[in-house]
Amino acid sequence: MDDRSDAPLGGEPGASRAITTSGELGAEISRLLFAYERRTGRSVGKERLAAAIGVTRSSLYAYLKGTTLPSTVVLDRLLTVLDVSPCSRRRLATARDGLEVGPGTVPADPPPPRQLPGAVAGFVGRARELAELNARLRDPGGAMTITPIVGTAGVGKTALAVRWAHQVCGRFPDGQLYVDLRGYGPVRPRRPAEALELLLCALGVASRSLPSGEDARAGLYRTLLAGRRTLVLLDNAAASEQVRPLLPGSAGCHVVVTSRSGLSALVAGTGARPLTLGRLRHDEAVDLLRGILGPARVEREPAAADELVRRCAHLPLAVRIAAQRACTDPSTSLAGLAEALSCERHRLDRLATPDDDLTTDVRAALSWSVRSLPRAQARMFRLLGLHAGRQISVRAAAALGGVDVQYAVRLLDGLAGAHLLERARGGYRLPGLLRDYALECAAREETEETRASAVRRMLGR
Ligand SMILES: Nc1ncnc2c1ncn2[C@@H]1O[C@H](COP(=O)(O)OP(=O)(O)O)[C@@H](O)[C@H]1O
Ligand SMILES: [Mg+2]
Repeated sequence: MDDRSDAPLGGEPGASRAITTSGELGAEISRLLFAYERRTGRSVGKERLAAAIGVTRSSLYAYLKGTTLPSTVVLDRLLTVLDVSPCSRRRLATARDGLEVGPGTVPADPPPPRQLPGAVAGFVGRARELAELNARLRDPGGAMTITPIVGTAGVGKTALAVRWAHQVCGRFPDGQLYVDLRGYGPVRPRRPAEALELLLCALGVASRSLPSGEDARAGLYRTLLAGRRTLVLLDNAAASEQVRPLLPGSAGCHVVVTSRSGLSALVAGTGARPLTLGRLRHDEAVDLLRGILGPARVEREPAAADELVRRCAHLPLAVRIAAQRACTDPSTSLAGLAEALSCERHRLDRLATPDDDLTTDVRAALSWSVRSLPRAQARMFRLLGLHAGRQISVRAAAALGGVDVQYAVRLLDGLAGAHLLERARGGYRLPGLLRDYALECAAREETEETRASAVRRMLGR
């Protein structure tokens, strides 16, 4: 048996209970000091003890009261001087380390977050919207500003928000936060508590220190952003309730939210003025086409270029996809491509597809592109519609398709080349409108059993 006897005195309750606060740690050290004095029959002067462990007397009192956490080295010295058994030493050292990363603990000086996704290459137009966003930044309101950017899928909300955020990021020295709220997709949108976890992580909170409830997380988030100048970009919000807990309180912060819905409750509750994003102007859409195809091809057939962007309903996503199709088919004239799109529209009219976010023109542009894909790529595209999140890893795609990883990379790169998928950090991303369309194709062209087994493979069941 250990003769140092720093074990609980007379079965003293609490002595072996878990230590969860610095007050409890202080009480435990005091108890060990008392046990030492009893054992040796000598009283220990605080002055001498402090000197022995290399701290001031007031620091020692703070440790005993539990108002300060001793460093690992100091605690170790203290327990050595008090001749504490190895077992108790381990227990106290572990408790101390646990307290250091207790709820709300943030490293002293975490680097400012820089989470903006890359800006869109070949961005065109939107001068009015960019000017409007800049003007709101100058509003001397003294309150935090929120700008919802609202509009249909594929109209360029994210592209605009990210483009603007890159232009003004110098005005936000405390960093830029970005989170995809996954408002639209086959799975439920991200809950505020989950989004807060990502945001707090970006602000330097260790995952084991995260408070558990939504309210506590939101409180810590506001605390960390208080007095800061941070830009917060909340992409793809489904509803106001998803956004409200993610609003910082600080006047120096600026929030941009993108959504397909009008976020009317948020607008009513906060006085935020939404910026409604329409399709590209005709000349902007032609500029986008020109940027991708090169000026010569557009100049050679200006009327066909006009027709082509009209067939894409001036929706940037559709224009990009059609332009890509034209790129991979350099021998075909733009007039021929416009004609093919027009035929596709008629074909779809005959099929009487459902009409929601996807207008017949846009659906025609998408369907025309997907139908031109090699079979295996088209199948992969449809199955990607069943993927839960917007970020898609190669491994998940391989599982969905029931193919090996190398082959999946080839298929995914093919889709990215046709602009039907975007490359993203660590994998790929399927923009909302494309996923809607992929899902629609999967529902129409794959059997229920095929869809279910693809999802089972992805979930590893
Ligand atoms: N102003 C623009 N200039 C160039 N490309 C754009 C522009 N707006 C959008 N795009 C492209 O169109 C596609 C859809 O845009 P995105 O911002 O993802 O739409 P949303 O967020 O509204 O669904 C993307 O490929 C994007 O790069
Ligand atoms: Mg978007």
